[in-house]
Amino acid sequence: MRKTRVKRIGILTGGGDCPGINAVIRAVAKTAINAHGTEVIGFLDGYHGLVFNRHVILHYDDVSNILSKGGTILGMARREKLFRMSGDARATAGTDHTSRARRVFKEHGLSALVCVGGEGTLAVAAHLDASGIPAVGVPKTIDNDVPFTDQTFGFDTSLAVAAEAVDRLRSTAESHHRVMVLEVMGRHAGWIALHAGLAGGGDIVLIPEIPFSWGAVCAVVERRARRGRRFSLIVAAEGAHPRDGQESRAGGRADGLNRARLGGVGNLVAGEVERRTRLESRATVLGYLQRGGEPTPFDRVLATRYGHAAASLAAEGTTGVMVAFRSGDITTVPLERLARGRPRLVPPDSPLLAAARAVGTSFGDQ
Ligand code: F6P
Repeated sequence: MRKTRVKRIGILTGGGDCPGINAVIRAVAKTAINAHGTEVIGFLDGYHGLVFNRHVILHYDDVSNILSKGGTILGMARREKLFRMSGDARATAGTDHTSRARRVFKEHGLSALVCVGGEGTLAVAAHLDASGIPAVGVPKTIDNDVPFTDQTFGFDTSLAVAAEAVDRLRSTAESHHRVMVLEVMGRHAGWIALHAGLAGGGDIVLIPEIPFSWGAVCAVVERRARRGRRFSLIVAAEGAHPRDGQESRAGGRADGLNRARLGGVGNLVAGEVERRTRLESRATVLGYLQRGGEPTPFDRVLATRYGHAAASLAAEGTTGVMVAFRSGDITTVPLERLARGRPRLVPPDSPLLAAARAVGTSFGDQ
């Protein structure tokens, strides 16, 4: 943690979009302008805007009326490979633009940079902070897998969309006596699938943290059918995979971090369940519907609290930290811990898993 005097701060949004980003931008800009008399510069399309100096000045009016707007007014990009960072194999290729970013930062007379993003964006924020660009991170992702915070903004909204999808699939599954599989996002972490499964009363929830067995999944569906329940609901995270298999890949171009695009587990599960049980099965892929649109009231409040805290820290010169939500309070975590951290996964002893199992939800593992 460092202390410096700040009169101008920058903000950028990186990674994949998520409901509530504009609420953060609004809270950062309004807090900076109103409470600290600080000017705010928004860099466009994540770190690209910083490196190539594409920016806008965020005046008070520019951030009015965006609280409930989905997406981000600053644009974003998955292009963290702009920087060569020690210990990160993903980011070692290509030119290192760290000095260029530092030059642009200095040219604008900035004293702090607020970086809104998930794991990749926050790791870059830690790198920049250590390289002379004092940074404050704000944890964003619908996947809810940023470590050291109980919740990222955006998760609540995607959960609401996923839970509604489970409810809607239930009535059509019941009418047609079908097995319905809902594929939701969640590359490493199954938080969306787990919460949506709990909220919607899913019969089977498949998450990356618990590799499943085809036998166990089919046994649940068949047992229900024998009991006269001629339909079943399965919620599968995109990163879920069978014990003896890998994640399903969507094909197409890898993302900016060279990670394969995931997708297809829904169809895989529906096809295999139908083949093995002879019960008619269908898959629905929720996809980007989970990321678009208006944030829920909870996410608007959380995003506003995060933005307010980030701007206050930046304006007071407290940098090198990420704002975090712990036990209902906003607190901070050193960015360098983030850079060393791993995604926050569903732990085997999660009380949510225990509650789900207690009400009869299977994870396809027993
Ligand atoms: O925001 C994270 C995430 O939701 C992951 O679960 C998913 O793998 C990824 O986004 C897909 O996003 P994109 O297609 O934009 O890379």
